[in-house]
Amino acid sequence: MLDHLTVVSHPLVQHKLTLMREKDTSTASFRKLLREISLLLAYEVTRELPMTTKTIETPLCPMDAPTIDGKKLALVSILRAGNGLLDGILELIPAARVGFVGLYRDPETLQPVQYYCKLPDQMEDRIAIVVDPMLATGNSSAAAVSLLKEAGAKQIRFLCLLAAPEGVARMKEAHPDVPIVTAALDSHLNDHGYIVPGLGDAGDRMFGTK
Ligand code: URA
Repeated sequence: MLDHLTVVSHPLVQHKLTLMREKDTSTASFRKLLREISLLLAYEVTRELPMTTKTIETPLCPMDAPTIDGKKLALVSILRAGNGLLDGILELIPAARVGFVGLYRDPETLQPVQYYCKLPDQMEDRIAIVVDPMLATGNSSAAAVSLLKEAGAKQIRFLCLLAAPEGVARMKEAHPDVPIVTAALDSHLNDHGYIVPGLGDAGDRMFGTK
């Protein structure tokens, strides 16, 4: 079982994350680094996928070779920043099914409101990996995971680049069964809901918007 929180301390991940945090890193470099880190984080979040064997023929003989068991994975991106993690992971797991969840924050209640949700079929039989680079308040992440559960998903993991303690606590309270994999656990959220020290607005930095 993955722990509730796994911080991937691998030197390559930490080095690339430092480059991403720097305020003068260009949009092109930020995007490239995010894609590279997503591969390394995907390696960690898929570490305990159930395995089986299938009989294959090598050029020398038949063998029972290991293969991932069960239905194809479902990757679910929380729009829009989740898409920055999605592309790299899909290179590693090209057969995965992909879903999207769009949420915005109601300015009055500050609660997440769903504006888009398209998930793969048979979620009850798939392992789902929800991706969003920034686990800040945890409100939209918790809401996205609830949508997956409503669609029948039973095995869900959450993958992010940076997490704030507030977001981790929120997820633990709402979804204690969902392990979180991240590259770093930062100090806190500021008054505007940004992760500190963080890296700023992940969507703006990857898409070059303001
Ligand atoms: N979303 C971001 O893009 N950055 C933060 O620091 C928090 C939420």
